Amino acid sequence: MKRVITYGTFDLLHYGHIELLKRAKALGDYLVVALSTDEFNWDSKQKKSYFSYEKRKKLLEAVRYVDLVIPEESWDQKEKDIKLYQIDTFVMGDDWKGKFDYLRDDTDAEVIYLPRTPEISTTRIKTDLNSK
Ligand code: CTP
Repeated sequence: MKRVITYGTFDLLHYGHIELLKRAKALGDYLVVALSTDEFNWDSKQKKSYFSYEKRKKLLEAVRYVDLVIPEESWDQKEKDIKLYQIDTFVMGDDWKGKFDYLRDDTDAEVIYLPRTPEISTTRIKTDLNSK
């Protein structure tokens, strides 16, 4: 069984997220999503999500492409996750291009950046709603 992992906040789940999850799942048989906790988002990015971790987790668990949701609590847990969940492929959107290439040396996983879906993001949804 080929196992894939991806990381993110997935706040206000939108079709760009669904496209990413669909393409990530298509790279294997089992998709793990490491979902940023509220604490990690605040401490590392000073970002506050609209939906709490528990609500974002429920939404992701309802998506047919997602097999398991685990917490993302630090930047440096990736090597540990890849070992623990026997991950073959690490996937991120290409806004992160190059940022995780070191995992190719530090783990046995392949690292793939998928093109983002144009013209949609959580930030854009928030901005558009605020300007209405
Ligand atoms: N993603 C994507 N296409 C989009 C938006 C996001 O492929 N239009 C991908 C990102 O590249 C990432 C994952 O979905 O791999 C989770 O992204 P996240 O940062 O949670 O969502 P964004 O909508 O980009 O949120 P923000 O605007 O807060 O950065």
